[in-house]
Amino acid sequence: MQLWHVGRVSSSKINGLQPLAPSAIPAANTNVYIFDGAPNNDATFVPVEDPREMTKEDIQQTVDDFVTGAKNAIEAGFDGVEIHGANGYLIDQFLRSNSNIRTDEYGGSAENRIRFLMEVTEAVAKAVGKEKTGVRLSPFIKFKDMDDPEILETIMLAAEKLNELGIAYIHLCEADWDDAPGIPYPFRKELRDKFKNTIIATGNKTPSEGEDLLEQNLVDLIGFGRKFLANPDYPERVKQNASLNEITDPHTLFGGGDARGYTDYTFLS
Ligand SMILES: Cc1cc2nc3c(=O)[nH]c(=O)nc-3n(C[C@H](O)[C@H](O)[C@H](O)COP(=O)(O)O)c2cc1C
Repeated sequence: MQLWHVGRVSSSKINGLQPLAPSAIPAANTNVYIFDGAPNNDATFVPVEDPREMTKEDIQQTVDDFVTGAKNAIEAGFDGVEIHGANGYLIDQFLRSNSNIRTDEYGGSAENRIRFLMEVTEAVAKAVGKEKTGVRLSPFIKFKDMDDPEILETIMLAAEKLNELGIAYIHLCEADWDDAPGIPYPFRKELRDKFKNTIIATGNKTPSEGEDLLEQNLVDLIGFGRKFLANPDYPERVKQNASLNEITDPHTLFGGGDARGYTDYTFLS
């Protein structure tokens, strides 16, 4: 199955575009960078610029843009679209009380902070079908100034409302660095109770950790990223308990001028 992330670059001045955000809060961490393609045959990141607060017109325009992106993806042959509400992207910025200090109906209470996510999801689901619409969320990330003490309750409320919309799935983007905290059982259980359709977990998972989550009936699918990129026959290797290719250079994972480190990892002989 092929899915397409629909997100929107929100926090960087790329090609002279004005960066947008729920609130005009500059990044506190000057080391915050955003991916800007691979113009020099290598992944390139540029520093974020200070954003301006979105007007109601910007919000409506952005909802429309998500719909356009989703329709284009389906027309291009993707099986579904995944609305990116994780990792400090625009929707995630609306969800969090530290990046969203708006005083209108898009800020303040958790009900207000999930409004943008719900408007985008409802519009996309209406345009391409709720069975083709998923949402990616990252409750436990703290990087990129996204540490919000209210995020877990906010995401749980969003899960309840997304359940009412009847979308296909929630994709939990779990922290993927080696000593990242795991998602605690009570959170997984509560999410399972509140959201009835598919739950996907991704982030530094081994097959046995994935099996464990499936056996406990806490999730339905496990996502694998980097191991799949470095091992085009990853399922076969797992089946055979075969050795894995290691990533040779993380920069090349983002593509660039040629296949090197991007699509040239070898299959089992
Ligand atoms: C080359 C590459 C590009 C990625 N790009 C994005 C991205 O644009 N947005 C995002 O939220 N996550 C992105 N991710 C994170 C993955 O979606 C996934 O969450 C992560 O790789 C964790 O899974 P893994 O530990 O199995 O690799 C990217 C990962 C890789 C390796």
